[in-house]
Amino acid sequence: MKPERELEILIRAKYPILFVVSWEERRVESEVKSICEKLNRSMHTWSITQGMRPAVTRTSGPDKPSALSPELEALALAHEAPEYTVFVLRDFHHYMKDPRVSRLLRDLGQRLRGRSQTLMLMGPVLTLPPDLEKEVTVVDFGLPGADEIEKKLEQVLETVQDNPKIDATLTDEQRELIVKSAQGLTLDEIESVFARSLVETHRFDVNAILEEKKQIVRKSGLLEYYPAESKLKDVGGMEMLKEWLEQRTSSFTDRARDFGIPAPKGVLLIGVQGCGKSLLAKAIAAQWNLPMLKMDVGRVFGSLVGQSEQNMRKAISVAESLAPCCLWTDELEKGFAGLGGSGVSDGGTTARVFATFLTWMQEKTEPVFLIATANDVTKLPPEMLRKGRFDEIFFVDLPDLDEREEIFAIHLRKRKRDPALFDLRAVGAETKGYSGAEIEQIVVGALYRAFAKGRELEQTDLLEESRAIVPLSRMMEEEISWLRAWAEKRTRPSSDRKGD
Ligand SMILES: Nc1ncnc2c1ncn2[C@@H]1O[C@H](COP(=O)(O)OP(=O)(O)O)[C@@H](O)[C@H]1O
Ligand SMILES: [Mg+2]
Repeated sequence: MKPERELEILIRAKYPILFVVSWEERRVESEVKSICEKLNRSMHTWSITQGMRPAVTRTSGPDKPSALSPELEALALAHEAPEYTVFVLRDFHHYMKDPRVSRLLRDLGQRLRGRSQTLMLMGPVLTLPPDLEKEVTVVDFGLPGADEIEKKLEQVLETVQDNPKIDATLTDEQRELIVKSAQGLTLDEIESVFARSLVETHRFDVNAILEEKKQIVRKSGLLEYYPAESKLKDVGGMEMLKEWLEQRTSSFTDRARDFGIPAPKGVLLIGVQGCGKSLLAKAIAAQWNLPMLKMDVGRVFGSLVGQSEQNMRKAISVAESLAPCCLWTDELEKGFAGLGGSGVSDGGTTARVFATFLTWMQEKTEPVFLIATANDVTKLPPEMLRKGRFDEIFFVDLPDLDEREEIFAIHLRKRKRDPALFDLRAVGAETKGYSGAEIEQIVVGALYRAFAKGRELEQTDLLEESRAIVPLSRMMEEEISWLRAWAEKRTRPSSDRKGD
């Protein structure tokens, strides 16, 4: 349901206290204003700087200047106001933690029940203390949808119609593209970006809009744009996983939709540390030609309790507004470490944020492909692994002999050495149990050796360096065999390891 429709219904149904979550005061207030006109209510807005506008005539209580702080005074005014009124109180997220505010709101909830009077609190974030959960109805006033953006575009087009300098002709396709790319911005942001594009390029430029969106992603602080820096060919081994990805290369196109293919939901990569999970994750977006966003799960858990949920919802909505795209969360288990009774009590915040995330994974309709990686499956909540969340869970094991050769070749080539000049079979055999990260370390270490001796890199440098490094897997033998056994039942292998 559209939020303005929901607001109208709640006002009609005499819900006493609403909390509207939105960054867009102007847009919310203009919607509330038209609802009030329609329902014959008088609307009063309050902010700390402007007080109550228009002023309210009280039905009782003192006329003397009040000793209450302004926000409490605003609530007191609402308490004594006549019926058929709607009060919109701005920035109330700041005051929700004050116990006096809580108390007054609970009193107000009782007082307003059954009366044709609505108290509407407003703020960009939701901070509802538990004692108000039953009293306050939360309305998420989402970002403008396609039809609203279209209306705004229409308005802007009209104002520049007679300007000979501006090319305001748009084909239907261009129009659709502009509306699509402006999704995820607030109405104010959309207006500014349209204006900026017209000033800079004298026409509507989709790139200008996309630039603005990058800004938004940066400002949100929860997501970052990740440049496409690696390709599938930079990853050694994992043939089966690569094949799976290649098969889905065009699956985000309209052609695929018409063919009856649903957009892929996501993959989870589990495995031994240093074997290229993060590297592969970074390559997926490049392979599929989609923008890549990285979500820092740690940052989503903001410092303020109660904001985390909001952060998660915001991160999700920013990602959806950029769809089709890939969303990468690295070392997923770390973000949700507070779950599962590890003794850390955060008042259920982790659990709620986690639930928000799971629900989204299950029900998302926007083509956002989730790429998650995890090293430690014991810290991963079991719900995460249930069917329907990811399309597939892949296990990334230590590379076998063929794969090690390939990884050596990749890293030699990366450092401008010709792999054909080395016997990679021999170093591959020498490095059983080494991860991709350790193989890279060997190549770099060998280069140091050669450089110190003042000559070109030789086979012996690679062999000596291999012997000098003790692979992590030797110390973690037990953990790795446990993980393999665990993975065998629950995951798909990323390669058909033929040997060791
Ligand atoms: N299969 C591989 N192919 C090529 N390089 C690899 C591979 N595995 C690891 N590496 C090298 O090691 C680095 C660290 O690996 P990473 O992707 O962070 O491992 P993980 O995320 O599985 O712990 C990579 O950036 C890459 O340089
Ligand atoms: Mg990693």
